[in-house]
Amino acid sequence: MTPVLEARDLAVVFRGRGREPAARAVDGVDLAVRRGEILALVGESGCGKTTLARALLGLVRPARGEVRVDGAPLGYSSRDLKGYRRRVQLVLQDPSGALNPRQTVYEAVAEGLRIHRVAGDERELVGRALARAGLRPPERFFLSFPHELSGGQRQRVVIAGALALDPEVIVADEPVSSLDASVRGEILALLLRLRDELGLTVLVVTHDLGLAWNVADRIAVMYLGRVVEEGPTEQVLAEPRHPYTRALLSVVPEIRHVAPVVLAGEPPDPTRVPAGCRFHPRCPALADGTAAAAGIAERCRVEPVPVLPADQGHRAACFLPLVSR
Ligand SMILES: Nc1ncnc2c1ncn2[C@@H]1O[C@H](COP(=O)(O)OP(=O)(O)O)[C@@H](O)[C@H]1O
Ligand code: SF4
Ligand SMILES: [Mg+2]
Repeated sequence: MTPVLEARDLAVVFRGRGREPAARAVDGVDLAVRRGEILALVGESGCGKTTLARALLGLVRPARGEVRVDGAPLGYSSRDLKGYRRRVQLVLQDPSGALNPRQTVYEAVAEGLRIHRVAGDERELVGRALARAGLRPPERFFLSFPHELSGGQRQRVVIAGALALDPEVIVADEPVSSLDASVRGEILALLLRLRDELGLTVLVVTHDLGLAWNVADRIAVMYLGRVVEEGPTEQVLAEPRHPYTRALLSVVPEIRHVAPVVLAGEPPDPTRVPAGCRFHPRCPALADGTAAAAGIAERCRVEPVPVLPADQGHRAACFLPLVSR
């Protein structure tokens, strides 16, 4: 089946000021989002998740590669982008920042409808979107201001604003990172319900692998501008193939089958991408001799790891699983 959204060898580069080197924030990503799935994009802060999400939304133009929508390359004319932005909606990280404090809930949700000149009864459309986001009865919230709502309710208003436009895809960037643990579960349950009831496709961007575990059908792990592992959630969690994924998993409290891993070395810097495997300066398998025992240590240091083909939908950019099987 053609993916609804796809990145092919996508790269986004931010030029440095003056003599500063450029930052390769996204550096050759291949990723497919399938219709009707929840795909979690995970990785440490700074690894390029938001930049990749923005590129998929057409908000930044790639330096290389392309974004494909339903199999066709994304067009960047304002007309193309306007239609596209109705189909693919962004839900932002911080609900208080995403909402105008002087705007009522009704106005906030109606805004997108007006921009896109959506036909139909506005009150009805706003009400339906709020109800779908779990704010019921919707009329009760029409005249509320953001400060009168809880954090969870505010996030629901932001989600309702996206739903009002009947999108095919929602891209949610750290949708629950500013919320309390109890509310977090409710918002994640809402995303699951929207996928099941509306057939919505959701790309959840998060630094929290534990969160991905709870909602995602598939997981893509990013490190320094690249997807280094990707696969069905159960497979990635039960049998992580990339040493970086193992390290991330080892600090998730619910996960007990991966021994604790402490990552050595400097945090990654997209202005200085290491040669060879970009994870090699921090790789525990290289440090503890596993890579040397497998005869790949030299390759780790000098040879770029190709984007590996999927084996039952599970792939990792590491020489190790290739030689160990
Ligand atoms: N507008 C920008 N100008 C320059 N550098 C940027 C810009 N946006 C992001 N970056 C850099 O790109 C890298 C990836 O950032 P980002 O995509 O926000 O990561 P994440 O969402 O995973 O935390 C970081 O090193 C960040 O400093
Ligand atoms: S390719 Fe080598 S350095 Fe890179 S993650 Fe695998 S073992 Fe570690
Ligand atoms: Mg981010």
